[in-house]
Amino acid sequence: MSGLLVEAPGSGQDLAIEVGGLHQRYGNFEAVRGISFTVQRGELFALLGTNGAGKTTTMEVLEGFTRPGDGHVRVFGLDPWKDRRKIRPRIGILHQDAGFLGDLTVQETVTLWRGMSADAGRATIDNALALVGLESKAKVKVRQLSGGQKRRLDLALAVLSRPDLLFLDEPTTGMDPEARFATWKVIQDLKAQGATVLLTTHYLEEAERLADRLAIMHEGSIHTYGTVDEVVSGAGDQVAFRLPMSAAQAKERFAEGLPFVQGIAPIVTYTAGGTQVVYTLSEGSEAARAQAAVRSLLAWADGVGVTLERLEIRRGTLEDVFMRVVGEVR
Ligand SMILES: Nc1ncnc2c1ncn2[C@@H]1O[C@H](COP(=O)(O)OP(=O)(O)OP(=O)(O)O)[C@@H](O)[C@H]1O
Ligand SMILES: [Mg+2]
Repeated sequence: MSGLLVEAPGSGQDLAIEVGGLHQRYGNFEAVRGISFTVQRGELFALLGTNGAGKTTTMEVLEGFTRPGDGHVRVFGLDPWKDRRKIRPRIGILHQDAGFLGDLTVQETVTLWRGMSADAGRATIDNALALVGLESKAKVKVRQLSGGQKRRLDLALAVLSRPDLLFLDEPTTGMDPEARFATWKVIQDLKAQGATVLLTTHYLEEAERLADRLAIMHEGSIHTYGTVDEVVSGAGDQVAFRLPMSAAQAKERFAEGLPFVQGIAPIVTYTAGGTQVVYTLSEGSEAARAQAAVRSLLAWADGVGVTLERLEIRRGTLEDVFMRVVGEVR
């Protein structure tokens, strides 16, 4: 599966990032094993995956920090390693691990950073701090910021020069829900102004909300990719209910067991409240399969004289897909 090409809808000039068959090694260890994807200009692409999947390694190649191994890598049509001086002014980077100088204040940190970035003149320090809600901390030493506040400072620095392309490696890790929500808004606003974003996150809801397209990586390979809808549609629908009896009672009562639905056997778990039954349906028409399943289950329930308690239909989630990808390959 590692050779999957994740094609953006556009091509050539429209592409901010092109990765084709990238392999990346640390000594004898192959951290990235032939991944391919493209990111169109103006798009937000999320790289999801397990710890150690190779997301940060891939980002560092694209950011020009690491020499690419085998394969084809382009950022704005340029080589991110050889042409890094040309590319650097156009990109903003939020690293997974912040490396702040703890004795500087927040304001001093932004000033220092502004002095180092090529095109930061347009953004004032106040604006940058306001953007991430850190105005009141301007005079506070960085070491006195909380983890989530440091992350917000990171974001302020990454966007200071209004980059065309933003690399955000786990931007909201450690943030409280309100700060995370505010950060999503900052990212969405930047995107609305035309920025391209490559994001990694372990918060699947974040990817569902923000990403135009996403890929799920595990152990150096991309295992699934596409728009959120495309990826999630592969997860199928779940039809679930509870039977008000124990497993033993269910076995006794239904001599032929629980029915198959569209050829699928249910997953049955026994809880104190009864027997939980879940069918995952991924075959056939997405629009109609849940209805057909419910119809046949109700017919079965009427036939055997049982009530399907808390009957529900749930669309598969990104989490279902993630767990399946990881489960299949582990
Ligand atoms: N400098 C390094 N030297 C040796 N191995 C490394 C180095 N950096 C990363 N690795 C290894 O490469 C693999 C990929 O690491 P990477 O940091 O790219 O993963 P990741 O997908 O970003 O994970 P996480 O979600 O935990 O941040 C891991 O197995 C890691 O141990
Ligand atoms: Mg990482």
